[in-house]
Amino acid sequence: MPAPVAVPAAPPAFEPFPYCGASLFAEGVRLSELADRFGTPLYVYSRAGLEAAWRAFDDALSGMPHQVCFAVKANSNLAVLDVLARLGSGFDIVSGGELERVLAAGGEAASVIFSGVGKSREEMEAGLEAGIRSFNVESVSELERLAEVAGGLGRVAPVALRVNPDVDPKTHPHIATGLKSSKFGIPIAQAREVYAMGARMRSLRMTGVGCHIGSQITTLDPFRDALGRVAALVDELAGDGIGITEVDVGGGLGIRYRDETPPSPAEYAAVVRNAFGGRPVTVHVEPGRAVCGNAGVLLARVEYLKGNGDARFAIVDAAMNDFIRPALYGGWSRILPCERRGGAGSAVYTVAGPVCESGDFLGRDRELDVEEGDPVAILSAGAYGFVMSSNYNSRPRAAEVMVDGERVHLVRRREQAAHLYALESRLPLPHGDA
Ligand code: LLP
Repeated sequence: MPAPVAVPAAPPAFEPFPYCGASLFAEGVRLSELADRFGTPLYVYSRAGLEAAWRAFDDALSGMPHQVCFAVKANSNLAVLDVLARLGSGFDIVSGGELERVLAAGGEAASVIFSGVGKSREEMEAGLEAGIRSFNVESVSELERLAEVAGGLGRVAPVALRVNPDVDPKTHPHIATGLKSSKFGIPIAQAREVYAMGARMRSLRMTGVGCHIGSQITTLDPFRDALGRVAALVDELAGDGIGITEVDVGGGLGIRYRDETPPSPAEYAAVVRNAFGGRPVTVHVEPGRAVCGNAGVLLARVEYLKGNGDARFAIVDAAMNDFIRPALYGGWSRILPCERRGGAGSAVYTVAGPVCESGDFLGRDRELDVEEGDPVAILSAGAYGFVMSSNYNSRPRAAEVMVDGERVHLVRRREQAAHLYALESRLPLPHGDA
């Protein structure tokens, strides 16, 4: 009898931001050094973290025709897109601006999917001119507009209908997208009718079907439900004479911010395989958060420690304009000192920023041993972090750096106040004024 083959233990998940001694690192670089060198607030990304997370999806889907299309909305920094484009990533975009970024970062138009409920004529033209892979169309009016725009350019637009499968993803209501009450997609019950309509339009090619049910989903059942419904639709369409060759299963896989236990990309891929394996289709998957969320941190520095009655505050120099997830979704991200102290000065703080709103906090009830001047890291900030930042309170947006082993690249310079009003002007002087 042959000796049993030892099954290697799963490798430990790659940790891009480990403590080594008292210091928190990004790969081979001390975060406190980055805070000193580039100032704070500062977003720091790990190239290896991005690559490992992207590859986890690509490997998990190996053996079936597929393309991982990173959802650009999660992090659109050119260097992030560049790292992923070099791995062969496609991209899921939702605006003409994201298309420009992808092309500027070296991404290929032929693997770009254009999602979103409100595409303008100009955006459709830009997608057609660039030669993108697919328009994910979300309404009959959009289908008609796309047919007209493509016809006007003498082109044929490749189309996937984004269907709304009416599945509850059990996530925060702001980021649930596949319920029939949401603005997204075409109700799955009407899809066959709309495909038939599209098939009659000569400037459209009905090649795909797509769905996306929400974000930060931490169980597999909503995916199973939704993909089962989409697979049934693909079969019905085949019966109608519409051969679907591409299935876009959306994004949405959650990550661990605190103590969540989301399925791994491999477990997720098994659900995809189960729904579509064996069918002659190419699967597109559009992860955003699961690729970049835990590959980025936001560094801030403690400005003041103060106590108001029983409440203690650590006022840091990053605020809701830099990272809005806590204020907007009740998002929770770990907050750690970049250099650990001994613990003797530990206290429980609300970590808040300088913006003039009580909703401006980054974390509540956090036990921290920090002093004024200490740099801290807000973890799991790589997705929906910088991209959702604003200039509220005329705060220049943070700088961004990418760490690659021991190398550090400044990938977005810090804004200056003058950038914020560069496009504005005062009124002309009144007539007669010198
Ligand atoms: N594809 C489509 C069509 C989407 O609408 C989204 C996200 C994704 C892919 C990527 O989903 P992910 O893999 O990142 O979950 N700002 C919110 C998240 C909004 C997500 C909207 N759609 C947050 O910070 O939680």
